[in-house]
Amino acid sequence: MRDATAPEGDPGPGALPVAITGLGAHLPARVVTNDDLAERLDTSDEWIRSRTGIGQRHVAAADEATADLAAEAAKSALADAGLGIEDVGSVLVATTTPDHLIPGTAPLVAERLGTQVAAVDLNAACSGFVYGLQVGGALAATGAGPVLLVGAETLTRVVDHGDRATAVLFGDGAAAVVLVARPGARLGPFRLGADGAQAPMLHRRSGGSRYPTTAAGLQNGDHLLTMRGGDVYRHAVARMAAASTEVLARSGTDVADVDLFVGHQANARILEAVRARVGIAPERCHVTVERHANTSAASIPLALADARDAGRLHPGATVLLAAFGAGLTWGACLLTWNPDDEEIT
Ligand code: COA
Repeated sequence: MRDATAPEGDPGPGALPVAITGLGAHLPARVVTNDDLAERLDTSDEWIRSRTGIGQRHVAAADEATADLAAEAAKSALADAGLGIEDVGSVLVATTTPDHLIPGTAPLVAERLGTQVAAVDLNAACSGFVYGLQVGGALAATGAGPVLLVGAETLTRVVDHGDRATAVLFGDGAAAVVLVARPGARLGPFRLGADGAQAPMLHRRSGGSRYPTTAAGLQNGDHLLTMRGGDVYRHAVARMAAASTEVLARSGTDVADVDLFVGHQANARILEAVRARVGIAPERCHVTVERHANTSAASIPLALADARDAGRLHPGATVLLAAFGAGLTWGACLLTWNPDDEEIT
């Protein structure tokens, strides 16, 4: 329950008066099925589906990088919001697979869109979009908006294609939202967290300042993604469930009032375990992992766009998001989907 003494339009504890006014997605054209992977890896459609729920993934073309996917998603979100690039105040790109280590990807995306406003990357791995919502929401609420927030990834560029334990899990894609300050809107509350002590659980060891790229390191595959899958699984369930429960409690929202739950689309079993722990009804969950696989920071906005296209997001809907990723990082947030049709102010 909201505080009855709160001023009218108050978004509630820990929430921002910010609306998502545009949403757009972009997936690369090429689709790789589990059977395609089984032609060159010791795996099978049955194993991948039963352990992860993944059936296929989209894979970027050789000449496509993260900024290319991001720019297409951003254009689609702007069109959905009815805005031009000249209206945008800031560009945020949540990614853990940037085009380059230097510079960031956001300035490249901004250049493709035709703007020189503030543009910066945010790397919280697969939690990047939920982190980006709080950072971007705060920017929008303090006059630096409208904010274009893009989750964009090309994970297939950094996995070891000979390692069946990781190669089957990931896909490429991008999706974007436009965040606009609006009285009466609600973005939050948020519960974000991080535990750097667990960094080696899911990482690319070399290529940064700790372990610069060397010929020997490249030979050893130190620049590729490695993961302790079982540990990641357990932490993902525990952290996403706890963060979700906390944001529900903080906002005084009954879990039965959640209209749509969109978790990070890494693994259908992880999502099912989180759903059961938090007590969300199965029909309130939107799951796209079968078609998209794990697209890291792009997975939640891609799933939101998919839910919208399927008619599952109605104005005023209470939406719960939860994410988990390398870092370790995790987060959850509540929001009210486009609470009204007011003009942007
Ligand atoms: N095809 C066939 N066998 C595979 C395989 C594949 N693609 N990948 C791994 N295996 C094998 C392993 O070699 C291992 O074999 P072994 O027992 O002979 O050593 C066995 O399968 C492991 O099986 P199991 O323990 O039943 O796997 P699991 O149920 O733990 O599932 C994951 C493995 C990776 C799917 C699961 O741990 C997971 O999803 N973890 C989270 C990963 C994730 O989401 N990371 C990103 C987070 S943002």
